[in-house]
Amino acid sequence: MSSFADTNILDPEIFPAEQGPPHRLFDHWRENDPVHWNPANPAYRSRMPDSSGAKSFWVLTRYKDVQDVSMNQELFSSHEAGIVVWAIEGEALERQRANFMMMKPADHAAVKKVIMPPFMPKSLAAISPEVDRMAAEIVGSAARKGNCEFVSEVAARLPIYTFCELMGIPEHLRDQVADYGNALADVESRTEHSLDPMIGLFALAQELAEEKRRNPDDRLLSAMVNDTTLNLDPMQINQFVLVFAMAGHETTRSTAAHFIHLMLKHPDQYALLRSDFDGHIENAIDEVLRYTSTTTNFTRTAMEDTEIGGYPVKKGDNIYLSFAAANRDPAVFEDPHRFDITRANAKRHLAFGTGPHVCIGARLAKMQLRALLKEVVTQMPDIRLAREPEWLRSVWFNAIIRMPVTFTPAHGG
Ligand code: HEM
Repeated sequence: MSSFADTNILDPEIFPAEQGPPHRLFDHWRENDPVHWNPANPAYRSRMPDSSGAKSFWVLTRYKDVQDVSMNQELFSSHEAGIVVWAIEGEALERQRANFMMMKPADHAAVKKVIMPPFMPKSLAAISPEVDRMAAEIVGSAARKGNCEFVSEVAARLPIYTFCELMGIPEHLRDQVADYGNALADVESRTEHSLDPMIGLFALAQELAEEKRRNPDDRLLSAMVNDTTLNLDPMQINQFVLVFAMAGHETTRSTAAHFIHLMLKHPDQYALLRSDFDGHIENAIDEVLRYTSTTTNFTRTAMEDTEIGGYPVKKGDNIYLSFAAANRDPAVFEDPHRFDITRANAKRHLAFGTGPHVCIGARLAKMQLRALLKEVVTQMPDIRLAREPEWLRSVWFNAIIRMPVTFTPAHGG
């Protein structure tokens, strides 16, 4: 990117050119135009189901502005026009609003109450030994081979297993649910998918819901389907499965791949981590989340004429919350482009969002990352890249999709 004039943040070439979020562009906007108007460009379309084209929006790059807007869901709505950078209208918008992330504040709060228990520390502590056991098994089977494709063989498997266990999705359907989730996140690539992933996932969700009505169990999907206070309709159930199929594994998987990639690019940091894994891992995970921001943005809509950070914004304007830019704001993070697993305030990052819609899976994601990375560092200590990783072509997710690695085969290989 040589010049920033007229750069549009939805240009699908920007992220691939920068191997992730365009931080030089964000720095420029933060310094010169911190509430930056990004007009819709009809040339930039996506295959996002239900979308009718790009939105126009204000791009927020300052930490405080992203935080303030995220905290105020009455003034800055997730419901009004959805939360993604593509415009969604009419019936399609109604369909999207059945999604928990885009419900009216009162409905969102009611559903959140029902789905929160499995994500609370006590429930997580109960499944922690099983997560550790699965992590050892997944890494162990790859470690014996001496090389593997890290994303599919290591990083993806634990999140898929964990979120399907939590939801109550039977084993034979897990890969299918994960494939649909991946295809739904893959809206800018040129990959052709044989079946519309939304239609496929919704059919599967209905099949599962029927099964949970017939045979209720103690898992999340059954709780949602059979809750008599919520009375969710079929589209709300479909959207609920969709949120978890996307949010439940794609992000955790990408963060695990980024973690190893960053360790290999910063051998001093890897040596430090290995010198005292338990002492450094919590902060290292937060620093990787801050540094990579796998979910780079969501949007909101202003419900009144107002101002953000001193800049006027009109009722109905869309707002792009750049979590990626906020996480590199020098007003909060000293020398923000430096990767430092001992950074004192790494955990202030906004990679999980903040406010009423803050990620409910944050603790679960961290627990899985801790378990998985401990096994990688122990069982594949000399892990190295076999070739440079491949990134997802996306203006939304900062995701590594393929990362071939080699290592000395673990004993028994
Ligand atoms: C490293 C991993 C993860 C990252 C970076 C991440 C990121 C995010 C972000 C930025 C949001 C905020 C949305 C907004 O402001 O509108 C969010 C919300 C959400 N996340 Fe995550 N997430 C991760 C893991 C997970 C996991 C493991 C689950 C569940 C199994 C999950 C489920 C959700 C759900 C249901 C929401 C919606 C919350 C709401 O609207 O109230 N996430 N996530």
